[in-house]
Order: sequence, then C-alpha cells, then structure tokens
Amino acid sequence: MSDKTTISPMPIGAYDPDQFSSALRKIEDWARAYIASLDDRSAAPARSPGETLAMLDPSPPMQGEGMGLWDHAGDELRETIEPGLMHWQSPAFFAYFPCSSSLPGVMGELASAVMNVNGMLWSTSPSATELEMRVMDWCAQLFGLPDAFRFDRDASIGGGCIQGTASEGVLAALCAARKRKVDAGADRSGMCIYTSTQAHSSVIKAAMVAGLADDPEDRSRVRLIETDADLRMDTAALHKAIEQDIRDGLTPCMVCSSQGTTSTGAFDPLSKIGEMLATIEQEQRPWLHVDAAWAGVAAVCPEHRGILDGVQRADSLCINPHKWLMTNFDCDLFWVRDRNALTSAMSITPDYLRNKESDAGSVVDYRDWHVPLGRRMRAIKLWWVLRYFGADGLREHIGHHIELAKRFEAHVRSDSRLRLVFDRSLSLVCFVVEGEDERTKALIDAVNTSGRVLITQTRVRVGDELRCVARVAVGASSVREQHIDLLISEIDKALAEVVE
Ligand SMILES: Cc1ncc(COP(=O)(O)O)c(C=O)c1O
Repeated sequence: MSDKTTISPMPIGAYDPDQFSSALRKIEDWARAYIASLDDRSAAPARSPGETLAMLDPSPPMQGEGMGLWDHAGDELRETIEPGLMHWQSPAFFAYFPCSSSLPGVMGELASAVMNVNGMLWSTSPSATELEMRVMDWCAQLFGLPDAFRFDRDASIGGGCIQGTASEGVLAALCAARKRKVDAGADRSGMCIYTSTQAHSSVIKAAMVAGLADDPEDRSRVRLIETDADLRMDTAALHKAIEQDIRDGLTPCMVCSSQGTTSTGAFDPLSKIGEMLATIEQEQRPWLHVDAAWAGVAAVCPEHRGILDGVQRADSLCINPHKWLMTNFDCDLFWVRDRNALTSAMSITPDYLRNKESDAGSVVDYRDWHVPLGRRMRAIKLWWVLRYFGADGLREHIGHHIELAKRFEAHVRSDSRLRLVFDRSLSLVCFVVEGEDERTKALIDAVNTSGRVLITQTRVRVGDELRCVARVAVGASSVREQHIDLLISEIDKALAEVVE
C-alpha cells in the first residue's frame, strides 16, 4: 500500500465550460418560470417563523451531489425558498423603497460572478478599478453633478466609488469628516453630527459605529434637528445647534442633508444649508454629506435636477441605483469632493499589499474608500444598465413611475375616505384613512394580508399630530397601469372592511 496522496487530474473546485453551460441551462429554466410568475403571484411571503428552517436539513452534506445538484436545484428554489420570499421584483410591490432590477443588471451580476475578481487594489485588476472610475464619471454627468466630483476633470481632486449601501457611504463620509477635524487639531471625543429628525436610521447607525453614540438614543454627540411642516430640516435650528456646540467647545463634524427622506420623500433645503455652512469659519465648518439614496436617481431627468440643487457645496453624496435605477442590488454610488480626505481616514498599507503603482501614488486603490478590503466588480452591471437603456431609457423609466404615482395620487384625492397628507414626492404617495390611526393601520394590514400588492407604513408628524401614514412607493421595473389599478382595487376592498 502506498501512503502517497493521489492527486486528481481535475481539482474538485474546477468546472469546465460544458459543465457551466449545462448548469446554466437548468437554472435558466427555473429563472424563466420565476420571471413569468411575477405578474400573477402574491408579492408577500407565505411562511411563518421557522417554516423554511424546518425544511432545511439540520446537518451539512457529507457527500457532494456534483452536477446532479442542478437536476433538482430549481425545484428546491421553487418549493423551499420562493414561498418564503417577499417578491421585490413583483410589479405589485409598492412597499419600502424599490429594489429594482433589469436584464442588464442581472447579466452584469452573472458576468461579474464568472470572473469573480477582487478589485481591492488597482494592481489586482486594473480594469475593475478603471471601469468603476469611468461609470462613476458617467453617472456624475447623468445626474448633473459638479465637476469637482469627477475623476476626469483637471482641477478635480474628487471622484466616486461604488459602495454596497448608502449606510456604508454615510459611515465613510463620517470617518473622512472626523479625520479632517482631527488633522486640524480637534479632540476626537468632541465630534458632533447633525441631521434632521426625518433622516434615515443609517446616519445614527454610522454615529454608533464610529463611536459618536453608544446607542440609538444617545444624543450627547448626535443632534436631530427639527423640521418644518413639510418635514424638511430647519436651517435656522441647524445653525443654532452648530453655534451652541462651538460655544461648548465641541466640534461640529458632519451635517447630513436628506434629499428624499425614507418616510415621506421630503427634501431638506440643501442650498440654504450649504449657504448657512459657508458663513461658518472654515476651521469650524462641518463636512456636508448628502443622502439622496432613493430620490437622487431622478436627477437623470433634467426636469428633476432641482432635487440636487445645492450639491455644489457638498463634500460627499450618495445615490443608490439599486433602489430605483434598475441596477441589481447592491450598488450605492458614493462621491467625494476631496478623495484624499477619505483615503487618509481609511488607508492602511501592510507589506503584503504593497505594489509599485500604489507606492508611486499614480493609481486609485478603492480599498481605501471604505471599510472592506476585498471588493467585487459591481461596475459591470451599472455599465451595462447605462448602455442598455441610455440616458433616454433611464429618463423614460423614472418618468413612467412618476406618472403612475400621479395616477394613484389622483385616486387618493378623489376618494373622500382617504387623505393625502403630504404632496406626492416623485413616485412616493403618503396618505391616511380619514379618522383614527387604527383605520390606517387596519387598511395596511388588510391590503398586505391579501398579499396581491404590498405597501408599508411610517409614523410622522402631520400638522400637530404624530400619525400612522401609509406609503405607496412606485418603483418595480415592470410596474404598469394595471398594477396601479390592482392597488386601487385592493385598497377599495380593504376600505370596505375598515370604514363602516
Ligand atoms: C433616504 C435613505 N437613505 C439611506 C438608506 C439606506 O440605504 P441602504 O440600504 O443602501 O443602506 C435608505 C433606505 O431605504 C433611504 O431611504
């Protein structure tokens, strides 16, 4: 008996092109059926807690199934996984904000997965970095951003990268803002962050992760600024809070302005905020970050560019094509005016990552733009989305959704049992059922229980009262008029139960 280990001629992890095609054909069969089912199926998950878990073997497999796996993988997805999903690609999905997708988005994910490179450094895949730089510059042009955010402008020291999410973007911005203050001699324990009471929770979370807050309620360094009746940040109150902190010896570190809040799609007065910040002495002036995660993509339409008015004074900006621009999750565009401010907060170079291009400072190394080191090639899907649809197609997509939202808004206005509580914001419509909050809650529950359409709720100040408000966000890539009609008829049915 030989004690030599036999070396298989074919490593177990390798696959040949025929195996790839054969597996792809089988998953393609499943994917075709899934896509075809989206129009007719309930958008809501049909599982209770633990149900999916109980269908999955508690022990890991000891013997691999090899190519046999693909013979039943589609059936398993259909039977075990799909019923426990919220179908975000359903055209009747009006909940949260969309997580839209498209053919070029899906193809881009596939191509990226096949190559599966790690573009952590320019040198570990130059094309990955340079494609991302190019699509970021394209998007800067499409959204009408100032030249300062572009790589390809001579005087610019800015640029952008694709982060996973807007939450990662705001954390990166906060780290850069703090580093700038620390470099200028500020005590890192006195950093304060300002945003409105309506800002997305990711801003407070960034403060928690960065050590500015111990828990979500900790307001020792987090200032939630009051809003006006339309839920837009009050610039005068922001100014007062900053001045008070300066008087108290603290350091105003970052202001986060929301262009399209999650609850109601409200737009903070970015121009006014920027103008007010410009009156503060430079050494005391906080970094200005703009969270346009959902609404920002509408700036692709010239008639909606005004939503980013004031971005000229911003230090950083986030827009998520994975929400409303048909680019598969995850894809958050993060731009920064001074990329050195960001990389000086994030860069650390152990010997094992050194290379001559990075040492020469002649390349962009995206690992210095966020927390993760390794990074996948997200730029391909965005590149293909931009080329497949072109600016005209993207404008048509946004415009179509806004028209559909107007149709729903008109219905709300015409039904005396319902009340529009804020002006429609792009494709987001917020309303209540006349009467007590319980009615609005009951309506949302009844609509969602039927599961044919999905909507969500929020809790915000309406006039002098905190109210439960229903939100309808139009945004699924394949939504059409008939789905708005379905939504209206589901709401009608639910109203019959809720309003006697
Ligand atoms: C205005 C706004 N900002 C930030 C976020 C967080 O987005 P992400 O999931 O990309 O972190 C959301 C999510 O809905 C949002 O609506």
